[in-house]
Amino acid sequence: MHLLAGRWASRFALYAVGVVAAGLAWVTGVGGVPHLHGLGRRRVAVDAYRAIVDKRDQRAFLDRPIADDALGRILQAGRMTGSSKNVEPNRFVVVRDRALLEALAATSSFARCIARAAVTIVLVQTREHAFDAGRCAQNMMLAAWNDGIGSCPAHLPEAEVARLLGIPPDIVVGRVIGFGYVDPERASPPPSVARRRLSLTELMHRDRW
Ligand SMILES: Cc1cc2nc3c(=O)[nH]c(=O)nc-3n(C[C@H](O)[C@H](O)[C@H](O)COP(=O)(O)O)c2cc1C
Repeated sequence: MHLLAGRWASRFALYAVGVVAAGLAWVTGVGGVPHLHGLGRRRVAVDAYRAIVDKRDQRAFLDRPIADDALGRILQAGRMTGSSKNVEPNRFVVVRDRALLEALAATSSFARCIARAAVTIVLVQTREHAFDAGRCAQNMMLAAWNDGIGSCPAHLPEAEVARLLGIPPDIVVGRVIGFGYVDPERASPPPSVARRRLSLTELMHRDRW
C-alpha cells in the first residue's frame, strides 16, 4: 500500500513537472513551435538550434508588409555571412514591387509563392561561389524565422530574372528567396522529428567513406 502510494506520488510529480515545463515552453518559446512565434500575440526570440531544426520552408504568406527593421536584420544577416577568402561576392536585389514579384513568379511553375511574398531577395554574385551563396541564403532565412517571417527559396530561370530586374551580364544570378509572415491557417506545423530526411546513418561516414 505504502509502495503503491509512493508510485502514484512519483507519477503525479512527473505529470506536474510536465505541465510546468509545457507552460514554460509556451511562455519562453523554447521547445515550442518556433515558426508560430511572432504571428500575432508576441514575438519571442528562438533558440538557435530549434530555429535551425524546426524551420520549414513556407509558401503561404499573409498579405502583410515586412517592416524595415525586420528586413534590415535579414539583410544584415546576409551581409555578415563569411565568404571564401573574404571575397564577399554576394549582392542582394530586394524586390517589393508587386508587379515585379508576379512577373518573377510567372517565370516558373514551381515558384507561385514568390507572387505573394512581401519581399523577395534575389541573391546574385560578383563571382560565382555556390557555398558562399548557400551560407548567405540560410543566414537570411534563419534571421527572418527569428522574427516570425517565413521564407522559401526558388530556382527561377536566370536569364529571365536578369532581364526583369536589369541585372548586368557580369553579375551571376543565383536563387531567389521569398519572405513573408506565415499564414497560421496554411502553415503545416509538423514537428522537426517528423520531417522526411535521410537518416544520419545514411548521411554520415566515420573517419573514412
Ligand atoms: C536551391 C533551392 C531551390 C528551391 N527551389 C524551389 C522552388 O522552385 N519551388 C519551391 O516550392 N521550393 C523550392 N525549394 C524548397 C525545397 O523544396 C525545400 O527546401 C524542401 O522541400 C524542404 O523543405 P522543408 O525544409 O520545409 O522540409 C528550393 C530549395 C532550394 C535549396
